[in-house]
Amino acid sequence: MSRLARYGRSLAFGLAAAVLWSGGGCAQAQSIADRIQTCGVCHGEDGNSRMPDIPSLAGQPEFFVLNQLFLMREGVRRIEPMAPLVKDLKDEDLSALASHYAKLPPKASDERIDPELVKRGAELAAAKRCASCHLATLAGQEQMPRLARQRVDYLIYSLKAIRDGKRSGGDTIMSVAVAGLSDADLAALAHYAASH
Ligand code: HEC
Ligand code: HEC
Repeated sequence: MSRLARYGRSLAFGLAAAVLWSGGGCAQAQSIADRIQTCGVCHGEDGNSRMPDIPSLAGQPEFFVLNQLFLMREGVRRIEPMAPLVKDLKDEDLSALASHYAKLPPKASDERIDPELVKRGAELAAAKRCASCHLATLAGQEQMPRLARQRVDYLIYSLKAIRDGKRSGGDTIMSVAVAGLSDADLAALAHYAASH
């Protein structure tokens, strides 16, 4: 991870901690609106992340977000800074959060997209049949996430984590799709997907 990415992460976590502490009595039940505000510290107020390595949630398929939050609450997908936020969520909170983010319009980040990498990524994506699951628009469906307009750095980070078996609770059908690809291949796929 680059120094900038690390900085972005620690900044995000610091901010989130401040939001959590400013809430005072932690025992008090939080409304969904309060929760969405906390999520927005890292994932962006409008669901489009401006933080390196933190994914945008805007326009994600409803079931994808619901499923991931469920996996996090059950401790299957472990994301340390999110753990205290998801542990006491009720099923209806998971649904409300998923429905909220599915409705928000996804916006491309301001990262530079390299046209050469997009070209190489398109060839790889065709060979690996990424669209068979993530759809031709790469908007995702059901438990398959949206890749289109996702942050480039997060796509690279998550593809590496999946390839290297470091994503906790990861779906094995995805590991098969990226098995044996080089870092350069993953970067090309990320630029291609984000440019959609
Ligand atoms: C302190 C920062 C932070 C806060 C606050 C936060 N998240 Fe996250 N979230 C992350 C990070 C970092 C990841 C990606 C981690 C990884 O893949 O290793 C993530 C991943 C996710 C994912 C998976 C997305 C994907 O594309 O795989 C979902 C869904 C999610 N968060 C929802 C939420 C919701 C809903 C809230 C509020 C209840 C929330 N997050 C609050 C940091 C945060
Ligand atoms: C057989 C279906 C399938 C194919 C083919 C497939 N994926 Fe996936 N992909 C998934 C599923 C399911 C997930 C959710 C993984 C999880 O829950 O751990 C996923 C997750 C991802 C993620 C993580 C994104 C996030 O927001 O967390 C990326 C990036 C991704 N896929 C890219 C690709 C690329 C690029 C290709 C082609 C090289 C590809 N996928 C091919 C099913 C597939």
